[in-house]
Amino acid sequence: MTVMTQTIALTVNGRAVSVHAPPAARLAHVLRDELGLTGTKIGCDAGDCGACTVLLDGKQVCGCLVSVAQAAGRAVTTVEGLATDAKLSTLQQAFHRHGAAQCGICTPGMLMAARDLLDRNPKPSESEAMDALGGVLCRCTGYRKIVDAVLEMANGANGAAAVALSVGSAVGARMAKVDGVAKLTGDEAYGADRIPEGALHLRVVRSPHHRAKFALGELAPLRARYPGLVAILTWRDVPGSNAYGIYPTGKDQFVLAVDEVRYRGDPVLALVGDKHTVYAIRDDELPIPWTRLEPVMGIASALGAGAPRVQPAKQGNVLTRGRVVKGIIENGWRAAAYKAEGAWHTSFVEHAYIEPEAGWARRVDNRIEIHVSTQTPYMDRDEVAFIMGLEKEQVRIVPTACGGGFGGKLDLSVQPLIAIAAWKLGKPVACVYTRPESMAATTKRHPATIRARAACAADGRLTAFEMHAEFDTGSYASWGPTVADRVPVHATGPYFVPAVKNTSIAVHTNGPPSGAFRGFGVPQAAIAHEALYDVLAEKSGIDPLEFRLVNAIKKGDATATGQVLQHSAGLPQCLIALRPRWALWRREAASFNETSSVLKRGVGIACMWYGCGNTSMSNPSTMRIGISREGKVTLYNGCADIGQGSNTIMIQIAADAVGLAADRFDYVMGDTDRTADAGKSSASRQTFVSGRATQLAGEDLRRKILRLANAGDAATLSLAGSMLLIRDGEGRRVVDLSAMPADKNGDAMFGEGTFDPPTQKLDENGQGIPYATFAFAAQMAEIEVDTELGTVKVRRIAAAHDVGRAVNPTQVEGQIHGGIAQGLGLALMEEYLPGRTENLHDYLIPTFGDVPPIDVLLVEDAEPLGPYGAKGIGEPALIPTAPAIFGAIHHATGVRMHFAPATPHRVREAILKAEASDETH
Ligand code: FES
Ligand code: FES
Repeated sequence: MTVMTQTIALTVNGRAVSVHAPPAARLAHVLRDELGLTGTKIGCDAGDCGACTVLLDGKQVCGCLVSVAQAAGRAVTTVEGLATDAKLSTLQQAFHRHGAAQCGICTPGMLMAARDLLDRNPKPSESEAMDALGGVLCRCTGYRKIVDAVLEMANGANGAAAVALSVGSAVGARMAKVDGVAKLTGDEAYGADRIPEGALHLRVVRSPHHRAKFALGELAPLRARYPGLVAILTWRDVPGSNAYGIYPTGKDQFVLAVDEVRYRGDPVLALVGDKHTVYAIRDDELPIPWTRLEPVMGIASALGAGAPRVQPAKQGNVLTRGRVVKGIIENGWRAAAYKAEGAWHTSFVEHAYIEPEAGWARRVDNRIEIHVSTQTPYMDRDEVAFIMGLEKEQVRIVPTACGGGFGGKLDLSVQPLIAIAAWKLGKPVACVYTRPESMAATTKRHPATIRARAACAADGRLTAFEMHAEFDTGSYASWGPTVADRVPVHATGPYFVPAVKNTSIAVHTNGPPSGAFRGFGVPQAAIAHEALYDVLAEKSGIDPLEFRLVNAIKKGDATATGQVLQHSAGLPQCLIALRPRWALWRREAASFNETSSVLKRGVGIACMWYGCGNTSMSNPSTMRIGISREGKVTLYNGCADIGQGSNTIMIQIAADAVGLAADRFDYVMGDTDRTADAGKSSASRQTFVSGRATQLAGEDLRRKILRLANAGDAATLSLAGSMLLIRDGEGRRVVDLSAMPADKNGDAMFGEGTFDPPTQKLDENGQGIPYATFAFAAQMAEIEVDTELGTVKVRRIAAAHDVGRAVNPTQVEGQIHGGIAQGLGLALMEEYLPGRTENLHDYLIPTFGDVPPIDVLLVEDAEPLGPYGAKGIGEPALIPTAPAIFGAIHHATGVRMHFAPATPHRVREAILKAEASDETH
């Protein structure tokens, strides 16, 4: 196809440039594709996310909404123009110090919006800062550290460099991210940023129907019509297994559908060719005659008599069941003085990472190399090999930076198709999902229908708990079995209950596949159990915080699976830390409500626990550390950093374990040719599992060094070029690394550590040891409800988390802020409706104005198995937020919400229903 271009002159980052592009081309695309300025990101291409924000004549604009012709003769500033002489600007330094970039994909847009603000208004207030940056979405940080960084500028940034750390002081320090500078300058390469010159592009053609049959027509005429179309892939082009899936027993998903599609978004064909052509071909030009079938939508329909089978092998549409039974439940009910019960419903929730799925592949002789944004390089490698019919060693995964994952990048996306295309065509092939494609095609949080009841004695002690949770696992298994297994274990919440009966079921529907999403079903269950405990507290006349404290599980108590907690169970400390705020905030809300009729305030509290790592499964991690002949120290780190900061904290742990300063360390992240398998970045396992493996690797290397030098344990190490100096009391030894032979990595010495947390299989009643350790937390939320509109504004949150040991308090706080923002979204606004909310203007996620100030209180009840005592924080941060907000809505209005999200119409409806019922009685 011929595309009309013009030569357009503009100034970019102070330099006069001419570009040859169609005048209507979007500025963001021209900056990236023509000028190589990939610091400007594209998250939606529709003006919704702000990732593409640049300055046009000094004012922030969305680069995806401005044509290059509009920029003609004008000055454009991108993130690459902020640093001068390779020195970060003071604004970038402030972001760096505050940990304001997590995955970093939103960071260029944030910086540009902040630059615009500060140029116009050097001393903005907090609300002015939030307004000015409000057009840029961040899914990781919860915005608070970004606001802190901007306000530090307003208050006179001191320009201080990030803290330099001495030997032995890395763990526990607020060390700046080791990959932070690249994220702040636009240098960081995400999935779409380093596509090789001349690569072909691949676009997936997907089902527009929830359920349909199809038969492909003749494809050759399309090839003839579009010379730029190099290949059209169908399922027949898959060289190995077209069926794949997370579990060996669940290979039920297809790289390309054969004759039936099971959800809106199922892949059918792949068009490969030049970028313009593959995106210019309309889906209605393709010869795909559809026969629509009645879809099975929702759990009730799927379980209804006579419902069609979504998956042929799954009778009754049941994918799997979970069960945990402890004690004699009837005895628990008999011992009860008070009982509570109810039902709750939650929705599909979209991960909404700002970076859509992206990557590229190339064939290198008899191997395939895939550069991709992923949470799990080794699982990707194994699954691509299976699909390609290759040996695992023939597949190399090189993770790019990942612009957010939250569980959504644990499943395959672009990997198999770009691999197949590159393998067949012998050319690099790239694929970048559009925002609507990302939202339609990828996994979601499981919608749940939960029925539960609980009972306590007159003194408030729990006597029985029973839950049945049904999860809509959508069209394919994905991580459905994980959710069904994990929820019954966690369903009581972090409390001691003598008699428990928890069951779960994952149900196939023609919805999108539900997969992993921060918490694996536990956040949905927490909404139910925390609501029941509020009711029991009220019935027994005990304050809600004290009720939780009375029942909080402690060391020496047995969980619902019969596991006796031996160490690190810091929930009581979390609740005690919140006590003063609890009393104060409740008093303040009551006093506000005395004089306010329409606006009502309330304060709620909720707790959580979360098993770190896979449920009752081996999930080992191996880490390696090498010192080269030149004296370069490298951590070979197989753990994908998806923004959570594992690149940094692993180096902190490694540094203290070896006994060298953290700034001596370089790292390799996730490359399957260069690192060992550290497992997936999920289940809040990397700090705990890979962190421990890193500590062991560091200790192994240190041991080898000390042995070589014949030095004692207390010796100190330092490096001067290739000379490794060992001081042991008065003694001083020097090892010349350059004189030693090097291994394949060029390392003269290396250490290795492997850690697999000890767990035990669950029996038929769910009894056993599913996790080696649990994280604990309690959060409280103050909200304000407009009782006439039904709107809920979260005013402040306090979050007390037992993290074992905060390896990097700044990053732990960032995880907590980000988790809370996502929990707030789950509670109040996020509802994915297939076919209706497949973009970021119909699907709402929290923005600057939605996330309130957050007080973080860190409790460090050390876990002896963890690295220097540390446990996980990724998922725990999100889990208590929604139930705390729901509790606060009840405190403010007297109504209990049973549906998440509690959107204004649902809150208003509940208030009206309660008023009507009051009038009736
Ligand atoms: S990419 Fe321009 S607003 Fe999202
Ligand atoms: S840091 Fe903002 S989206 Fe990840």
